Amino acid sequence: MTAEPEASDSPAAPRTGRWRRMVDAVDERMGIKALAYPVPEHANNLTWSLGGVTAVAFVILLVSGIYITQYYTPIPETANQSVRDLVLHAWIGSFARSLHFWAAQAMFVSALLHLLRVFVHASYKRPREGNWVVGTLMFLLTYLALFTGTVLKWDQEGFEALAHNLDVAKLLGGLGIWFTTKLTERVPILLRLFNAHVVIIPGLILVLFVLHALLVKRHRISSHPEIPATGLEVSEPFTAHLKRVAAFGLVLVGALGILAVLVPPVIGPTPVDGIEITRPPWMFWWFFPFEEWFGVTSIAVVIFALFALILLVPFLDRSPRRRWQERKVAMGIALGILLAITAITVEVWINNPKGH
Ligand code: HEM
Repeated sequence: MTAEPEASDSPAAPRTGRWRRMVDAVDERMGIKALAYPVPEHANNLTWSLGGVTAVAFVILLVSGIYITQYYTPIPETANQSVRDLVLHAWIGSFARSLHFWAAQAMFVSALLHLLRVFVHASYKRPREGNWVVGTLMFLLTYLALFTGTVLKWDQEGFEALAHNLDVAKLLGGLGIWFTTKLTERVPILLRLFNAHVVIIPGLILVLFVLHALLVKRHRISSHPEIPATGLEVSEPFTAHLKRVAAFGLVLVGALGILAVLVPPVIGPTPVDGIEITRPPWMFWWFFPFEEWFGVTSIAVVIFALFALILLVPFLDRSPRRRWQERKVAMGIALGILLAITAITVEVWINNPKGH
């Protein structure tokens, strides 16, 4: 870590005003002024603040999630009805559930855009390889949170998602035991997925986020590949940058609030075993063709392959070049994968409205 300013030993400059004195007093004990590290001017826009926007979406998910958990029962017999009761009878229950749903979409999209921003500017290159790995793990956890959240509502869509998952678990042999009744017959899989969704996954994201933010502070925000380093670049303290991120966050809260009121997510009836009539949320559509060509277990292989490839990006692309124009192979491969995933997703959206 970089050397922190000596808070208590250095003679403090004379301060006026109650607010200043309070900040100084808190700083002396908590070192909060270490947060005022320099952020370059080129980072003062939305594209370079997408990580912060992702963090805001995560906070909305935590707050709305804590609220709706008060009304949810993670037991197969009553789970679906408890979600209906939440929507119909709990105070702002429908709004809270809807906000949770839309914040999940927002977190996924902004994390993906943040990843793409970091990729296009090659901000993952030395010394930020470790932070790219931490980011990839958070992205994988976001994906898992979307999956477990889909199962929790225990309608046909959630049930089919779980059925696929059990098929994939078989492929993992001993490692897949967590998804089977072999681990314990006493605790239903739904309850274990609930634990994963509300404790394990968000807990891991929180721990990784602290590490992610500390590494950003240690390495500073990367320079802009198109702006030659002169040593005279203008910067502002991170605390000022944070105010900008908070403003973007407020816009996000407003937009999600409107969506939550106007477009609430549906909940289907209790599930029927042995049929396949729904399709999962859109971020899972891209592996439909693999399932059709190579069977359901291929899903595990393609997801593993894609996330492994993302994780390895800094170790595969080791040249110091950072301008996208000079990284034709990396940009070409990324664009190819992105276009293929987008094309499959649009194809499923148009031609496969009721599942497969
Ligand atoms: C999923 C939740 C994530 C959160 C909450 C998050 C948050 C942040 C924040 C607040 C920053 C500071 C700069 C900015 O806002 O752009 C940042 C930077 C960074 N993030 Fe993330 N991030 C996440 C995911 C990812 C992913 C998926 C990757 C890549 C695989 C990644 C890689 C990086 C890197 C390398 C930096 C340093 C960028 C630079 O110095 O220009 N992050 N992240």
